[in-house]
Amino acid sequence: MKTTIKEAKNYLNQEVTIGGWLHNKRSSGKIAFLQLRDGTGFMQGVVVKAEVSEDTFQLAKNITQESSLFVTGEITEDTRSDLGYEMQVKSIEVIDEAHDYPITPKNHGTEFLMDHRHLWLRSKKQHAVMKIRNEIIRATYEFFNDNGFTKIDPPILTASAPEGTSELFHTKYFDEDAFLSQSGQLYMEAAAMAHGKVFSFGPTFRAEKSKTRRHLIEFWMIEPEMAFYNHADNLEVQEQYVTHLVQSVLKNCKIELKTLERDTEKLAKVATPFPRITYDDAVTFLKEEGFDDIEWGEDFGAPHETAIANHYDLPVFITNYPTKIKPFYMQPNPDNEDTVLCADLIAPEGYGEIIGGSERINDLALMEQRINEHELDAESYSYYLDLRKYGSVPHSGFGLGLERAVAWISGVEHVRETSPFPRLLNRLYP
Ligand code: 4AD
Ligand code: MG
Repeated sequence: MKTTIKEAKNYLNQEVTIGGWLHNKRSSGKIAFLQLRDGTGFMQGVVVKAEVSEDTFQLAKNITQESSLFVTGEITEDTRSDLGYEMQVKSIEVIDEAHDYPITPKNHGTEFLMDHRHLWLRSKKQHAVMKIRNEIIRATYEFFNDNGFTKIDPPILTASAPEGTSELFHTKYFDEDAFLSQSGQLYMEAAAMAHGKVFSFGPTFRAEKSKTRRHLIEFWMIEPEMAFYNHADNLEVQEQYVTHLVQSVLKNCKIELKTLERDTEKLAKVATPFPRITYDDAVTFLKEEGFDDIEWGEDFGAPHETAIANHYDLPVFITNYPTKIKPFYMQPNPDNEDTVLCADLIAPEGYGEIIGGSERINDLALMEQRINEHELDAESYSYYLDLRKYGSVPHSGFGLGLERAVAWISGVEHVRETSPFPRLLNRLYP
């Protein structure tokens, strides 16, 4: 019977064949322990000299790291392993022998591993991170489908900039100038006027010269947009969505979280409602905490966000930032016109902003004024203004950065490990 490591649990005390790779091994004169991987998981294969042919035992002892093989044997219970079972190997068929695999069990530097990202993906830790990423994607579709959202795909090649003009990737579009999308938001606003509640999930690009543990040049963003939702409604959707992501990973990625040694108690605490603090109160709080460098009107840096997040030890919304440090499209706060109806969601444990969102300006005259103030080319925003001309309604939305969410939930330090092939300031290979 051919099966996989993950499905082998259904074949306890039966003989099966699994196609995989040799991850690692250990052997003595009488027994060899093969660490096998097949994409679905990692499993130990035990080869006992007295129970297999001499050829098979010699093969097990000499087989090289990352050689591909078919192994056949009986699946037996093993309460000591995370998996709960192992294989008593009867025979081994080598498919392809690997020589001098560059990533050995010893420690390698990050740059070396990043240069070998195409192989590094096979390691147990990287495998676990990608499985968690996949679970977050799955749970995203589940959440938005279950809550009446329609998925709409905004374009990647665009003529204008939603989030400020300095971080754009420029390219030629035949004879015209074009930019790779920084955010699908403005198109999602159009989609919300057609479908009510919509979400997108796609790649976005920021030519940011930032070299931090939170910044990628290419990252994936989930961008919901909801007609008739105000600022408060928007925050409720966000806290429900993020809680669903965390609970799905806790439920469906137990082995992966264990592999990553993630402190799951911290994740288990995540529940709605999330704490909220206004920008004004956050500035006061930071001053009390001894941050003398922050003045009202300035954006928060990573240390500020971390101090606020540590205070709550939960995801926290920082609301109502000053108008002048946020994009042009945000609805003014009726209680203080120097601020806007927006929120950044800050993840705990120092992972920083994972969501940026806001209520959008729905008044045509005000939107035109903002486009002028920001010196944007009104003509290329003509379609966006149409949304305010023909049946404008209050609406809100947000963007969750997938890689930052994966970094936080899986507990890996740097976003570069949350993207299969990360594009970084100094890295376009592999
Ligand atoms: O806060 P941002 O720039 O918001 C927008 O783009 C809005 N248009 C979204 C919307 O309302 N539809 O980006 C949203 C999120 C951030 O909170 C962060 O998680 C992620 O995108 N992000 C990045 N992730 C990795 N590398 C980068 N360089 C990122 N820039 C933003
Ligand atoms: Mg932001």
